This record gives sequence, structure tokens and C-alpha cells, in this order.
Amino acid sequence: MPRPARIGVLTSGGDAPGMNAAIRAVVRSALSEGIRVFGVERGFQGLIQGALVELTSRSVADIIHRGGTILRSARSEEFKTPEGLAKALGVLKRLSIDGLIVLGGDGSFRGARDLVHAGVPVVAIPATIDNDIACTDQAIGFDTAVNTVVGAINKIRDTATSHERIIVVEVMGREAGYIALHAGLAGGAESILIPEVPADLDEVCARISFAFRVGKAHSIVVVAEGVGTDAWADRDGPKSAAMYVGNYIMEKTGLETRITILGHLQRGGTPTALDQIVASRLGHAAVGLLAAGQGGRVVTMVKGEVRTFDIDEALAMRKSIDPEMYRLAHVLSSI
Ligand code: F6P
Repeated sequence: MPRPARIGVLTSGGDAPGMNAAIRAVVRSALSEGIRVFGVERGFQGLIQGALVELTSRSVADIIHRGGTILRSARSEEFKTPEGLAKALGVLKRLSIDGLIVLGGDGSFRGARDLVHAGVPVVAIPATIDNDIACTDQAIGFDTAVNTVVGAINKIRDTATSHERIIVVEVMGREAGYIALHAGLAGGAESILIPEVPADLDEVCARISFAFRVGKAHSIVVVAEGVGTDAWADRDGPKSAAMYVGNYIMEKTGLETRITILGHLQRGGTPTALDQIVASRLGHAAVGLLAAGQGGRVVTMVKGEVRTFDIDEALAMRKSIDPEMYRLAHVLSSI
């Protein structure tokens, strides 16, 4: 694959704090290699529509610390069709874009893979607060989201203690419990419910009753949004995971319970220093690969080092939660 002269960069799927820092790193690293960069607006949908704008070093000034994405993001159904893919390929050809960097989660990686199979040199960067990309220890945005949730839990704990209540905190993660597990451990939650481990609500109730018996002034239960939602749907329609768990606890224990659903506030805000650093390193590494004529790869962080993987292999890998961490959270809140 020859060295590209003009590359594109896009952000796709749910946004993640640190995406802007990565865009900045991509643009400035490419310019330093003499490669022109075009920002694609609204992810793969913008690619289909030819919504590209050239980015200069000044275009990415003052964004390293900003949440969201200056390129906007979207989930494109059209891109998943053969017609959508063909339109995107046509745009890349017409604008002589000979390399592309895609920031996003697993859905975005599948889009990137389709372009790779159609002959486009693409490098993907994991950026999702869910952190469910198997080949990386850390996706851009995860650390910020965990810190946001821990900040919320710390505040919730104050009022939970004052009123001697149980508070169920629902966090994002339809299929992945990383935010719940990491924030639950850091926030000292009494119980953590994640999609990867079958929920035993009677055990949660027993732990809560025990906690109050031994003199704890509150109980915090962290629930990932994807826990049990299908199985728990009742005839009034599906409830949120937190509502179901909160009602169950209240009925079983008779203790006063409140619910907080953190929702999209987990996706915004200033990225942590760690996310800004990871984003800068991965953005730079992605450009390095394209400049060296290597497409079809994912750039990742493994044990603090930048590593790269073939995109098909990356998509075939399955990520599991760390059982030691799950056990640790359980032990530390058990007595
Ligand atoms: O993929 C990131 C994520 O924030 C998930 O945790 C969440 O389930 C989903 O996106 C929400 O998507 P939307 O913003 O489209 O409602």
C-alpha cells in the first residue's frame, strides 16, 4: 500500500470524552508527515453524503480538553447496506482520500472492516465509554466515564447516609459491565450488577439487610443498564434495570429505596488526563500506520504500551470482565 497523500478521520457511534483529543493528534501528526486531513462529519452517514471538510492545525486548536466530538457522530443504518457502502467508496474515490481513521466502538469497527475488505486502508481507534473492545485495555472515554460515575456515587452516598437509605444507581452498558464494575469498586458499592454475571436479587437483598444489621448507614447498588431487562419486562412494559431492582429491594426488605439513572451525563464532560494522553498516543499511532502504508489495523493500549492488531482478528476477540476485580468488590463490601 503506497503512502497516502490525503486521509479522512471520522467519529462514529456513541461519542466518548477524548475523541477531540484524538482528532487533534491525528490532524497534527498527519500534517507533520505532509499528509492532508479531511474531517468527515456525522460518521459513516456523512461519508455516504460526502460531508468532508479539510482540517488544519488551527481547526483542532483548543479542543484537547473538550468532551463530545467536533466532527459530530451518528449511527448509520444506510452504511450497513451494499448501496450505502458503494456510495461511501464513491465519495472516497472522488475526493482522492486514500486512507481513513475511524474512532468508535465495535459497531464502528465493523463499518471500518467493511471498508478494509473493499480495499480502503483504514485504521480504527477504540473510543467508547463501554470499554468493550477486547484487544485494548482501555478505550478512549472509559476513564472519564468511570470518574464521572464515581463522582456521582460519592455525592449520592452523602444523602444516602443522611437518610439511611438504599440508592440504586443505574449506569450505561447494555452488554458490558465495565463502567459498573470499575465505578462500583471505586465507589465502594455494596452490590454491583452487570450483564456478564447472572443477577441474584435475593442475594442483593440479603447483603443489604446484613449491612443495616451491622450498622452501615446506607447501601449503594450499582446496576448496568443492560442487566436483566428482557427477563424483567412485565405486563406494564419493560422497566429500567434500576427501577426493577429498586422495586424488588423495597418489596423484599421494606427499606426505603431511591433510584438514580445517570444516563447520558456519563458520555459528556472534560476528558480525564489519562483519556487525553491515551487519545493523543492512539491518534498519533494511527497516522503512523497509514503513513507506513499499513491499513486494516486497530491501534490499542495494552499494559500502558501502544499495540496494533489486525482488524478482523480484533473483531473476533471476546472481552470478559476481570473475575478477580468482581470478587474484590464483593469482599470489600461484605463486612
Ligand atoms: O455505546 C455507548 C453507549 O453510551 C452505551 O453505553 C449506551 O447503551 C448507548 O451508547 C446509548 O446510545 P444512545 O446515545 O444512542 O441512546
